[in-house]
Amino acid sequence: MARAIRFFEVNTGAQIPSVALGTWQAAPGVVGDAVATAIKVGYRHIDCAQAYGNEEEIGAVLKKLFEDGIVKREDLWITSKLWCTDHAPEDVPVALDRTLRDLQLDYLDLYLIHWPVSMKRGSVGFKPENLIHPDIPNTWRAMETLYDAGKARAIGVSNFSPKKLGDLLEVARIPPAVNQVECHPSWQQSKLRAFCKSKGVHLSGYSPLGSPGTASLKSEVLKNPILNMVAEKLGKSPAQVALRWGLQMGHSVLPKSTSEARIKENFDVFDWSIPDDLFAKLSELEQARLVRGSPFVHETFGAYKTVEELWDGEL
Ligand code: A2P
Repeated sequence: MARAIRFFEVNTGAQIPSVALGTWQAAPGVVGDAVATAIKVGYRHIDCAQAYGNEEEIGAVLKKLFEDGIVKREDLWITSKLWCTDHAPEDVPVALDRTLRDLQLDYLDLYLIHWPVSMKRGSVGFKPENLIHPDIPNTWRAMETLYDAGKARAIGVSNFSPKKLGDLLEVARIPPAVNQVECHPSWQQSKLRAFCKSKGVHLSGYSPLGSPGTASLKSEVLKNPILNMVAEKLGKSPAQVALRWGLQMGHSVLPKSTSEARIKENFDVFDWSIPDDLFAKLSELEQARLVRGSPFVHETFGAYKTVEELWDGEL
């Protein structure tokens, strides 16, 4: 049964669906089925990125879903992201066109600067010598042009600290609609959340389950005893409580799954809530950032010598 999805309003006046299917690490060959399953279950928001290497397959599936009358383009919210190699202003529209071609769309609902990190044009991988100094105001002006042209109906950023978001807001003609960052009960982003709220920037939470499938992160988020206690009391799974926590905090959540059962489970978060007393317990969780961005940091190359500099101390 398709469940009734909820929305949050962003500063363009558009309604962003509160739960998206994440596609980071959704392998080619399975991501298409995951997108089709999610849309049939009722998801209306797909979170993509050029860097995930799977936009072509997602595009082919979207085309089929439109042709088969399963969903209309205007009822979907499609996000994608500008990769670090495409920050030069003349490269920004080219990158968006490539994403639109791959996704077989003529506009995105949201286009984000993926990281406040620049790499040499055409470079591949994460070699330190590819890192160069970003010029975010210049890149942002190119993003604004895409917004003016209607190719990106909203523009925003990802992985921006409060400081970097504040610096951008100082120079932006069109303020970012969204800052997409790691967010889950074990990394609640209290300072960034308050800053975003004060500036009318919507926060979207990636890795809302703490990315348990990313071996290098050694994530324990879903194993947290308090989260599990709350889940047991409510008769829900720890994943559902983590997602519902995000919705009640007021941010959209982007859980990735390629399993039909878990895609359904992660969407079953609308017709129940975490009561105040249990919700308060979730504010007691120990906090730790999982996605540190270490490949973007180098003592010689690029803009950030340490992870502290990348996140402006928010670790
Ligand atoms: P799978 O794709 O096999 O379902 P995040 O969105 O925080 O990055 O987490 C994604 C990871 O969590 C993937 O490894 C995904 O595996 C797994 N996952 C997704 N949904 C659930 C769930 N409901 N319970 C446990 N693990 C989940």
